[in-house]
Amino acid sequence: MISPPTDLVHRLRRHQQEHVLIGWDRMTAAERAHLVDQLAGVDLTELEQLYARRDEPHTALPPRDLIAPLTVEQPTDAAVAIGEEAMRNGEVAALVVAGGQGSRLGFDKPKGLFPIGPVSGATLFRIHAEKVMALGRRYGKPVPFLVMTSHATHADTVEYFEGEHYFGLMPEQVQFFQQGTMPALDLATGKLLLEKPGELFLSPNGHGGTLTALTDTGLLPELKAAGVKHVFYFQVDNPLVHVCDPAFVGRHIETRAEVSSKVVFKDDPAEKVGILAEIDRRCGIIEYSDMPAEMNEERTADGTLAFRAGNPAIHCFSVEFLERVTTGVDRLAYHVARKKVEHYDPATGETITSESVNALKFELFVFDALPLADRWLAVQTTREDEFAPLKNATGNDSIDSCRRLMTDRARRWLASAGVAVADGVAVEIAPSFALDAAELADKLPPGLVVDEPMYLS
Ligand code: UTP
Repeated sequence: MISPPTDLVHRLRRHQQEHVLIGWDRMTAAERAHLVDQLAGVDLTELEQLYARRDEPHTALPPRDLIAPLTVEQPTDAAVAIGEEAMRNGEVAALVVAGGQGSRLGFDKPKGLFPIGPVSGATLFRIHAEKVMALGRRYGKPVPFLVMTSHATHADTVEYFEGEHYFGLMPEQVQFFQQGTMPALDLATGKLLLEKPGELFLSPNGHGGTLTALTDTGLLPELKAAGVKHVFYFQVDNPLVHVCDPAFVGRHIETRAEVSSKVVFKDDPAEKVGILAEIDRRCGIIEYSDMPAEMNEERTADGTLAFRAGNPAIHCFSVEFLERVTTGVDRLAYHVARKKVEHYDPATGETITSESVNALKFELFVFDALPLADRWLAVQTTREDEFAPLKNATGNDSIDSCRRLMTDRARRWLASAGVAVADGVAVEIAPSFALDAAELADKLPPGLVVDEPMYLS
């Protein structure tokens, strides 16, 4: 009988994790190799420290006098020419994060495959890929499209892009890269959880894993060598995002910002959104759950909320900054999430389904990089124009609200092009047809009337 490698046994024993080897005798050679491989990628010391600090807040806010509302610029077209030149020079890459498990939506495939198009049923991935394709066409230079997946979404995502012939993009233009994983721990004991015999329970390490994965996979140096200087970051579940918005990218370049963020103003204190603020003379974020009640309600003289710079997760990072925060000492720290996890118990051989929270998961958040920037920029956008998150099957940020926002924006663009759309009629504009209202106006005949559902593609 082949025993587990001695050094592995010792390492597990030192951290009281040797239960993961129960059943080793009954595993096939391939299963054993897989488990050894999984364990090789786990930092048990780090996990032990994370477990010990599980009740501590991630970052305590400094005293109130060190926290101020962030200066947010209004969007203007003043720097469009700078952004467009960068696009023509191939200096901007588009990065979509699509490694999440989409558990709230309850869709059995990666969220990017969700057919969100209100008329066409186009998937989120199609919508984003068409934007990237249309940008390349507009600026005469293909835009590198970086698709971050996780072990949970990678195979389905790659297969889908291949099956759809990359939506008209060149295959070499699309770079898939996988974020890292983190094991889940039993909340009561700190022991590693198993998904099934010989298989650790692993989860994607949060959207902040994007930054480390860019470097760990070697993609960042490759991009740099290809002349990419800025990375436009967005989430797969927002079909309205104005990918590589030249006005925003241009302003980012003009101000020499290391990180630029779009901001959606919050006007209801109850809205659960992270708020960008100036914290200790740096740009930071206050998560909704950490926002002190009195600050949440604070208003300025004109009656608007003082802390209203909501974060729609649309950023532009300079490549130099990304290099610094992923290779230097400034690494991001894990957030702890308490979750209900169904798992395999090697001691009894049973699958445990818990009614209550029973596990800890660990995630990096991309916005934790903001305070590491020496120069930053925040520019306002609006929900109506650019933020329709698809999080839930029903209710807030749901399939319906997302489709409604898409239709409403399409109707506004059509109205500005002089097209009348009958009430209640669904319309959709494929990004490959028009990337913005101006392009749409150029393409449509005047006097067009839309009186039945229409997909402009
Ligand atoms: P969310 O935090 O909303 O998670 O991710 P989610 O997976 O979409 O949905 P829930 O919370 O399980 O219901 C916001 C964005 O960050 C990406 C998601 O794919 C989405 O684009 N993300 C999240 C990752 O890429 N990796 C992660 O580990 C987590």
